[in-house]
Amino acid sequence: MFYPIVRPALFKLDPERAHELTFRQLRFMKGTPLEMFYRQTLPSHPVTCMGLTFKNALGLAAGLDKNAECIDAFAAMGFGFVEVGTVTPRAQAGNEKPRMFRLVEAGGIINRMGFNNLGVDHLVENVKKARFNGVLGINIGKNKDTPVEQGKEDYLICMEKVYAHAGYIAINISSPNTPGLRSLQYGEALDDLLASIKQKQKALEQRHLKYVPVAVKIAPDLSEEELIQVADSLVRHQIDGVIACNTTLDRSLVNGLRHAQEEGGLSGRPVQSRSTAVIQRLSQELQGRLPIIGVGGIDSLTAAREKIAAGATLVQIYSGFIYQGPGLIKDIVTHL
Ligand SMILES: Cc1cc2nc3c(=O)[nH]c(=O)nc-3n(C[C@H](O)[C@H](O)[C@H](O)COP(=O)(O)O)c2cc1C
Repeated sequence: MFYPIVRPALFKLDPERAHELTFRQLRFMKGTPLEMFYRQTLPSHPVTCMGLTFKNALGLAAGLDKNAECIDAFAAMGFGFVEVGTVTPRAQAGNEKPRMFRLVEAGGIINRMGFNNLGVDHLVENVKKARFNGVLGINIGKNKDTPVEQGKEDYLICMEKVYAHAGYIAINISSPNTPGLRSLQYGEALDDLLASIKQKQKALEQRHLKYVPVAVKIAPDLSEEELIQVADSLVRHQIDGVIACNTTLDRSLVNGLRHAQEEGGLSGRPVQSRSTAVIQRLSQELQGRLPIIGVGGIDSLTAAREKIAAGATLVQIYSGFIYQGPGLIKDIVTHL
């Protein structure tokens, strides 16, 4: 494969610079014979989840393709589904750079991007241009300058705009990099948000004559009691799925490593076991009433199988993909 050859050069660059360069290359290669450098033909293992048929159980996690610029390239690499975003109603710059750090010894990444994105209208235009015919997840959030008490409105605006173009909609209430966002995971704020989202989904279903499932993405840092409350709330509001988990604030497994004390969310290998434990506990609580999409530290076929054994129906990768490239997709999809 091509990635092991280019990775050392990419890893010499600042992580965000490497990201931009890779995206530029992917856009350049699109529709040319150079696509052969990343295209992979993998066995088909369809999975049904949330009423949708996924080409295989492995997806690209949110945050890598925030503006839906390279959907077709990721599909060509063999992902069974692609989740784009997080997108917000209006474009925003995100936090100051540098805001992404590799913890190479741990196979981890810390980021405090802060939902840098070009806004929901721009994302929808890109989605319309894509040829991908698999399941596209669109992950939505709120603008930083929208007060958290009015955050609900931002989710409803995004739902309205993406509904017609999404296979499913992911509600991100678990990024640690938008002040106050995670408070939407608790108690009345969560109930209020989910009730409005469900109502909106029903109205949009009637208007578009199509049902688009909604999944909620949660943090790995919830206590057991909070997790049980979230599960109960998701079931009561008839949410279609749960994505577990986002990045963690916990640094216990990376203490002493370079960049470990950077502010932001930690992902990759150091979040693997915590994410699996959350999936296991959620699965016990949910008893199959809604499916779990497992994400967090998947860096091998075995790690993907652990998520499924813990109760996930689908899995996603981000950090493992940065470290290993398309070869990891092949390893997982071939045998999952
Ligand atoms: C640089 C970076 C940016 C991310 N941005 C988002 C985002 O915008 N929305 C979101 O829901 N998750 C985002 N995530 C979280 C990932 O989707 C995933 O939940 C998390 O990284 C755990 O998976 P991993 O260990 O495979 O990376 C981001 C992760 C990273 C590393």
